[in-house]
Amino acid sequence: MDLDSTATLNSGNKMPLLGLGTWRLNDRTADTIEAALKMGYRMIDTSGDYGTQPGIGQGLKQSGVRRDSYYLVTKVEEDDDAYGATKENLHQLDLGYTDLMLIHRPPREGVGEVLWQGLQKARDEGLTKDIGVSNYSVDQLKELADKSGETPAVNQIEWSPFGYSQQMLDYCKQNEIIIQAYSPLTRGERLDDETLGDIAQKHEMAPPLVILRWCLQIGVVPLVKANQPDHMRQNLRVFEFELDDDDMKRLNGLNEEFSSLSSKPMYLKA
Ligand SMILES: NC(=O)c1ccc[n+]([C@@H]2O[C@H](COP(=O)([O-])OP(=O)(O)OC[C@H]3O[C@@H](n4cnc5c(N)ncnc54)[C@H](OP(=O)(O)O)[C@@H]3O)[C@@H](O)[C@H]2O)c1
Repeated sequence: MDLDSTATLNSGNKMPLLGLGTWRLNDRTADTIEAALKMGYRMIDTSGDYGTQPGIGQGLKQSGVRRDSYYLVTKVEEDDDAYGATKENLHQLDLGYTDLMLIHRPPREGVGEVLWQGLQKARDEGLTKDIGVSNYSVDQLKELADKSGETPAVNQIEWSPFGYSQQMLDYCKQNEIIIQAYSPLTRGERLDDETLGDIAQKHEMAPPLVILRWCLQIGVVPLVKANQPDHMRQNLRVFEFELDDDDMKRLNGLNEEFSSLSSKPMYLKA
């Protein structure tokens, strides 16, 4: 596994294995994105409601990296007209297409069939290569697939060794849904965990690297936010070491359905 490695979606399209998150990215978004691309990041995750899309679009241009060499993920909100919101996102990003467009959260009623149809239309018109969801439970994934006749390519959910779901992992593997792990570093809240520290010391790596590596080895794609260039650079070292079976067992044992956003991850509440 290295920076050029990819995961294959149910459409056959490929996705990089590590993404840069941009929620609350600093106000120098364009420069940060340019620096990230130059360091080797190939996937950027954003959303219309992060306020970062114009800066990201600018940074992508500044980087000089070809459009087909980076992967852009963005989202529509549950109350949006999904097709119109896709166009608006593209306008803000100043791009012709996104690689992946997600429903940010399941709506209060139903599982978003109308939103899904809007995304299908956007995909049919070439505005996005793939479509998926975020914060969906296993039951919501099943219901959307049943009602629409199509399995989402991705479920983007909160995921760390302290908060994950084996049932979700198994379901997504069986149904060829890629899990993108958001807030994998628990927004810094659990980085001082003793077990994590032990394993990090053993590999002479910082604790965040152990979490990112754990994500990769269980087959999920981490999206990590980092403002600081040192953090950004350090996180790329995830490809330089490997966790052994004992490390994985210890990390798997840390699960307590922890969430840094709420009382538990949203997909476990539904
Ligand atoms: N779909 C959804 O509903 C949803 C919800 C939440 C998040 N997301 C996405 O997932 C992305 C990541 O999640 P997140 O931003 O919530 O949290 P996160 O990635 O778990 O944590 C970000 C924090 O970790 C710090 N950090 C990064 N690398 C580090 C390192 N090597 N050593 C020490 N600290 C490090 C960052 O510091 P600095 O910034 O100071 O470098 C920042 O304070 C978001 O930005 C967003 O794109 C999606």
